[in-house]
Amino acid sequence: MLSTHPQLDELYDRVKAHVPPVEWAVMSPLIEKIWRLKTERKAVILAHNYQTPEIYYGVADFTGDSLALAQQAAQSQAEVIVMAGVHFMAETTKLLNPKATVLIPDARAGCSLAESITGADVRRLRQQYPGVPVVTYVNTSAEVKAESDICCTSGNALKVVESLGVDRVLFIPDQYLAANVARETRVEILTYAGSCMVHEQFTPQDLREIRSLHPGVKLVAHPECPPEVVDEADMSGSTAGMVEYLKRERPAKVALITECSMSDNLMSQFPETEFVRPCNMCPYMKRITLEKIARSLETLTVPVEIDPALAQRARRSVERMLQVGRQKGK
Ligand code: 13P
Ligand code: SF4
Repeated sequence: MLSTHPQLDELYDRVKAHVPPVEWAVMSPLIEKIWRLKTERKAVILAHNYQTPEIYYGVADFTGDSLALAQQAAQSQAEVIVMAGVHFMAETTKLLNPKATVLIPDARAGCSLAESITGADVRRLRQQYPGVPVVTYVNTSAEVKAESDICCTSGNALKVVESLGVDRVLFIPDQYLAANVARETRVEILTYAGSCMVHEQFTPQDLREIRSLHPGVKLVAHPECPPEVVDEADMSGSTAGMVEYLKRERPAKVALITECSMSDNLMSQFPETEFVRPCNMCPYMKRITLEKIARSLETLTVPVEIDPALAQRARRSVERMLQVGRQKGK
């Protein structure tokens, strides 16, 4: 689809595999509106790798996995930060950049992991396992982070666990990420019954079928998948780890065992790679749309506010994680 804006034409080339011309006719004025609003509001948009291509390529100033977005949030000088991601990511942004106005375009963009556990649950676990440090996946509320010793993401979970120098940790709330980390360390990992509704759906049989239907395919699984799924894969890593793997290995054929937009976004960056696409959609990530981002910038909604005393405790867990950094290859 042609437009008078050369940047828009370039952009359409990147997204046209996923956006038919009739939809582009609706999206492109919204994209231009968001560009204008970002300048007016001195705003930036952080977008997770699971956002749709028109957001990822069209309006985001920075894209990445949960760890990269947290690092970016901490550094940003913008007055307004729009989180094109889910609510816990917006909360993490607010914790790390309390002076900025942090907006989530749809407050219902939750997460099955974040919803699986409360602060009271963590306090109960601490009573059950006195003295055992609590390592909490960032996919949790600020309230849960406030009850924790340190956070982690899928890009640094092993490094965070080993940084504590203890024999035993409580690793919450993702039972599968916990089980995958447990296989790589001598630290005893106690966990909780949370799971990601996107990644728990993949089965080892799915991966075996992909291999038999697509000879030579490389399988890359997110560590929120059950360990028996990760066992069938050639590599496991965070969404940023997946990008690194593609850059490094340049596989002829790949299947990313994760959320659907991951392959959609990477297809145009890696045109020589064939993407087999056995994906599951995250309904929470998909609550964020161009319309809602535009409205969010226009009306400065929905602002993320965290009680200052709680924020201080939650921030400590996230900052402690950032000091540990990313583990190699993840
Ligand atoms: P990462 O991008 O950190 O791998 O996280 C995946 C995810 O499920 C975020 O919600
Ligand atoms: Fe939560 Fe899973 Fe969706 Fe990520 S993909 S936001 S972990 S439900």
